[in-house]
Amino acid sequence: MDVPAWPHRHLLDADGLSRDELETVMSLAEQMAEARASREPLALLRGRQLTTLFYEASTRTRVSFEVAARALGAEVDTVSVSLSSVTKGESLVDTVRTLEALGTDLLVMRHSRSGAPYLAARHARGSIVNAGDGWHAHPTQALLDLFTLRRRLPGRSVAGRRIVIVGDLLRSRVARSNIWTLTAAGANVVLCAPRALLAGFESWAGALPPDRQLSVTDDLESALRGADAVMALRIQRERDAGSGLPSVADYVAGYGLSASRLREAKPEVLLMHPGPVNEGVEVTAEVANGASSLILEQVANGVPVRMAVLALLARGAA
Ligand code: NCD
Repeated sequence: MDVPAWPHRHLLDADGLSRDELETVMSLAEQMAEARASREPLALLRGRQLTTLFYEASTRTRVSFEVAARALGAEVDTVSVSLSSVTKGESLVDTVRTLEALGTDLLVMRHSRSGAPYLAARHARGSIVNAGDGWHAHPTQALLDLFTLRRRLPGRSVAGRRIVIVGDLLRSRVARSNIWTLTAAGANVVLCAPRALLAGFESWAGALPPDRQLSVTDDLESALRGADAVMALRIQRERDAGSGLPSVADYVAGYGLSASRLREAKPEVLLMHPGPVNEGVEVTAEVANGASSLILEQVANGVPVRMAVLALLARGAA
């Protein structure tokens, strides 16, 4: 498999990826998916050492990075932060240097502080991959969401498609990264939530170049009208800043996605959610497990997409 040249040493956010670079990731991920389906052995990361360092809980993201790295022949280590010297007060920079001294050359990290991976990247000799920082960014989630949508939409493109993101936008790193990738790929992105959870997004929409389509509304019915895909986001109580949040009951009444509400969308509407899902809150169990749901496909697609990202970074840093 030919891995094209890649100019970036780290993947910290999706904002720096051009439309062509998104294409490169998507087509390499497609090849990775085919190679996995045909059990073709790949050794693009042989001799590399990847470590996952997660300061926040995760199931799918961490495991999917580890599966992806192993599928490419890397050696994989997992730091359990709660059992590590972090609990003794070791700083992030010391942790990065320590892991590199032990041989790590690809460090996948998740941190509750926005910007933490940027600090790590300033001190790292190898590559840093952001697996989620605070409210800020989650670039590989956005890439796997784009991959999932393209595979399912007729014409294999999101260009001109109405993609609605509904839920806790305020605290969502998934939404922030998706806004970059989806608008770069030509989608018409609509953000929908109670006003308190939309703070800052209107000015973002106003500041985008005219070829990018992003709009904001607190009216779910009009947001859903004619939608090709709807991405639900979890209400993130653990990242609660303590203000402006509706009660769960109010949220469900106004914004919970049910089969009847989704009738406003196109009949073939696709339902997405980055997980973990709180069934009965942002989406009903019926919809989350129904025929239009791509939730498990998103999880599965995380592997080939992360394989593509890791192969590109390894090539770029070589
Ligand atoms: C998300 C995250 O952690 O940012 N999940 C994920 O990575 N798939 C969203 C969330 O926590 O709700």
